[in-house]
Amino acid sequence: VTRLSGGSAPLLAGLLPPAAVVAEAFQDDDGAALFPDEAAAIESAVQTRRVAFRTGRACARRALVGLGVAPVPIAVGTGGAPRWPAGIVGSITHCHGYRGAAVARARDLASLGIDAEPNQPLPHRVLPRIALASERAMVRELAASEPRVCWDRLLFSAKEAVYKAYYPLGIRLTFSLATLSFDANAHAFEVQIDSPATLASPALTLSARWTATDHLIVTAVACQLGDGHVRAP
Ligand SMILES: CC(C)(COP(=O)(O)OP(=O)(O)OC[C@H]1O[C@@H](n2cnc3c(N)ncnc32)[C@H](O)[C@@H]1OP(=O)(O)O)[C@@H](O)C(=O)NCCC(=O)NCCS
Repeated sequence: VTRLSGGSAPLLAGLLPPAAVVAEAFQDDDGAALFPDEAAAIESAVQTRRVAFRTGRACARRALVGLGVAPVPIAVGTGGAPRWPAGIVGSITHCHGYRGAAVARARDLASLGIDAEPNQPLPHRVLPRIALASERAMVRELAASEPRVCWDRLLFSAKEAVYKAYYPLGIRLTFSLATLSFDANAHAFEVQIDSPATLASPALTLSARWTATDHLIVTAVACQLGDGHVRAP
């Protein structure tokens, strides 16, 4: 049975392997400072974006401290992905009422992807654009058994987390290249990637988990390399 809760209890903790350090915020930190390159990256952005970016960076730096890494700039890299210090992998997410970051040593995890969304149905007509027929059937079935979770939104969030985890490995996914299947009791999901790039990477294993409260959905994916068939470019 899915246990939903409100408030600001930690959400990311427990969704990732122990090598990952997480930090999250349910309110914005007005005092959080940005490094000059970071500030430059968002100077023309709207206020809501600037605030989310700032708190996301503050979460990332708090998480890095947990790994013993002193505060450093985290520039906006290729394709919007955060540029982590050497030897570090990580991911950042923000949505209304939530900001989170997760980091790990690259020797422990190959990559991370996290995503947060409101626990609300996707806007009309979005589901067919992001879900395969089998996934739509799964969403319908799960919605009938646990209506408190917006499974369409959870599917979207999980695909975003998968996208973010694969991007630093040099693998660009689209919605139709990833087929997800949820385990409602274990709060986990399986990911099947239908891309030539991943066929050459049998050693990549994923830990993929989710959680939901009355208001939020959070998903987290960690990639681990076996004998190293996939390397970050
Ligand atoms: C980039 C993307 C994943 C961001 O997700 P989102 O739900 O819109 O927003 P979130 O707040 O959760 O995440 C934003 C953060 O993701 C990170 N991010 C952005 N681009 C990224 C990328 N290419 N790779 C990894 N992380 C990325 C950044 O840290 C960003 O925050 P920041 O700009 O403050 O640093 C999304 O906009 C996107 O382009 N998705 C690809 C669509 C797709 O094909 N998905 C399905 C694949 S299975």
